[in-house]
Amino acid sequence: MKLLHGGDYNPEQWLDRPDILVEDMRLMKEARINTVTLGVFSWSSYEPEEGHYQFEWLDEIIDTLYKNGIYTILATPSGGRPAWLDEAYPEVLRVSDMGVRNLHGVRHNHCMSSPRYREKVRGINNKLAHRYGGHPGLLMWHISNELGGACYCDLCKKKFQEFLKDKYDHNIDLLNKEWWTTFWSHQFNRFEQIDPPSPRGEGSITGLKLDWKRFTSWNMTDYMKSEILVFKALTPKIPVTTNFMCLYPGLNYYELAEALDVVAWDNYPKWHNEDQKIWETAFENAFDHAVMRSLKKGKPYLLMESVPSQVNWHPYNKLKRPGIHRLSCLQAVACGSDSVLYFQWRKSRGSYEQYHGAVIDHLGSSDTRVFKEVEEVGRLLTQLDEICGTVVKSKVAMYFDWENRWAIEDMPALSNEKKYPETCRLYYKSFLRMGIDMDIVSCQESLDNYQIVIAPMLYLLKPSTAEHIKKFVKNGGTLLATYLTGYVNENTLCYLGGFPGDGLREVFGLYSEEIDVLYPRDHNSVRFVVDNFLKGSYRVKEYCELLKTESAKILAVYAQDFYEGTPAITVNSYGKGKAYYVGARLDEVGMSEIFKKVCSEVGVLVVDLPEGVQMHKRTDGVFEYKFYLNAAVKEQVIPIGVTETVMFASDTLSTRADAESSQQWVLKPNHCLICKSRL
Ligand code: GLA
Ligand code: ZN
Repeated sequence: MKLLHGGDYNPEQWLDRPDILVEDMRLMKEARINTVTLGVFSWSSYEPEEGHYQFEWLDEIIDTLYKNGIYTILATPSGGRPAWLDEAYPEVLRVSDMGVRNLHGVRHNHCMSSPRYREKVRGINNKLAHRYGGHPGLLMWHISNELGGACYCDLCKKKFQEFLKDKYDHNIDLLNKEWWTTFWSHQFNRFEQIDPPSPRGEGSITGLKLDWKRFTSWNMTDYMKSEILVFKALTPKIPVTTNFMCLYPGLNYYELAEALDVVAWDNYPKWHNEDQKIWETAFENAFDHAVMRSLKKGKPYLLMESVPSQVNWHPYNKLKRPGIHRLSCLQAVACGSDSVLYFQWRKSRGSYEQYHGAVIDHLGSSDTRVFKEVEEVGRLLTQLDEICGTVVKSKVAMYFDWENRWAIEDMPALSNEKKYPETCRLYYKSFLRMGIDMDIVSCQESLDNYQIVIAPMLYLLKPSTAEHIKKFVKNGGTLLATYLTGYVNENTLCYLGGFPGDGLREVFGLYSEEIDVLYPRDHNSVRFVVDNFLKGSYRVKEYCELLKTESAKILAVYAQDFYEGTPAITVNSYGKGKAYYVGARLDEVGMSEIFKKVCSEVGVLVVDLPEGVQMHKRTDGVFEYKFYLNAAVKEQVIPIGVTETVMFASDTLSTRADAESSQQWVLKPNHCLICKSRL
């Protein structure tokens, strides 16, 4: 097994330039490319007119690639439709939330429900499966491209109503109750009266909005499965993937991932932005990797797209500075990816992405900075074959869940920006700074294998999640939750009798009576009152919950305002475990101190890493591979255990000193070091 190196290749744009296609092959070998993704937007090249097919060009490309040792990930072309299709079947076009049907153009904008579109896609997928399913160069099927968005056509509306009937047992009274429709006289008599949310219609029923997002996610999964079906029937041994868009808010990726063999995603962080140091961008990006990795519970995933230099769609498209490409690629592998793939191999000559970064520029030469950096990555990856297939598993997990996110975002209260993903990202970063690369879990998952679980803003609480949490703590786990825990049930009805609801009040030994909101420039602070926990005060922004403790022990109190001296941070013993409650939004410094303290109490090892250095671990069950990446702008000294062997260094490193218990290695900026040890 090899780590994949390559990316999106669009030879159909160059069919009249055979010289360029020949040159591509030569340059790919020079860059140590072993995999390309073909056909992402090739429908009009496969089927220029309805029923008239031309695949000969692709036959030749796939064959030549294979002869040159390059594998193909073959995409289905449904991300972009030919003009003839939209002209002949306008019902495949998506309808906006204002009820307006799109005209032909751009991409990614079909109706997911349209039987006609599904039939046409099935047709072309069938052709691909028959023609290439047995090709020895075929590695994987890639379904469509960056599935996303929603359609509001009559078909989708009807399907939404069916979805609701199913969910609410055909009982409109049940729906009315769960959506609290007596409010503003919103009761429905029949499911057929229900429209999707719209700026010119219903936008106030939080239960409806949440169910619409669930439906859209379900319908997208259903659409994706309709594409997958063809391949599972004809080529059951070829794995299927699609490319996710990081933390894209519109789809529950946990749900989509279940229908895939392999998770893949597109990663375009804003390197060199105005607000962060490079290492901070790198640390935040590690969270995105962690979420993607966790969709298949730590199994290897694919980095399907990334850019060797600048994209064309950030507000300011800076060049990646020298070395950042290597850093970001090795970071992907460190985080659990089995590939480094790019968008795109060669820049288009015209149209919308003609200036989007690529391995080969319009210059057409390998004598460029970007090409050389790509070639270097290719060379480094060939030294890492034994990493391929290894997994990531942590003893610490954090909830990040799309349904919870949707419920928080549509919660008509507090402040406009509730910052749920940002909060999760920040907590993840704090742990990574301690050398702990957390697993990310959905609200469906059991917590059995973890020692510590972090639950940021777990606003929407399903009974099953509450059960997992209770079991986890009862059996000796340590849980840390924050303000906004357990306010609503799965349909956004508030729990009565005190938050957190559904039995968690007992787990935390408290209830939250009110929540105060601070203006952006305001702050409060919390003061620790128990000597053997932390000392001093820490800053608080935005949210302060006013807590009433029952069995919980108070660790910190508010330092200001009318609630000065009342509990802000607590801990409660429950069964064999402990449940911490952090009622206020502490800044990064405060949360990091709390996390460090909790880890030390539980006995989870914390590593003192220099600023900007991140550590990730992958394992095959026998060996552990510890990656150190230096995203700081200066050299950093890395302490390595004596039992560990340095198996890979992306640069010549010098051993600085051999202390008694550790070797110290100097790691240059943007470089990576991997240590191997037996578990
Ligand atoms: C996405 C798409 C690609 C391309 C890139 C540009 O990831 O999947 O087709 O448009 O963005 O960054
Ligand atoms: Zn539709």
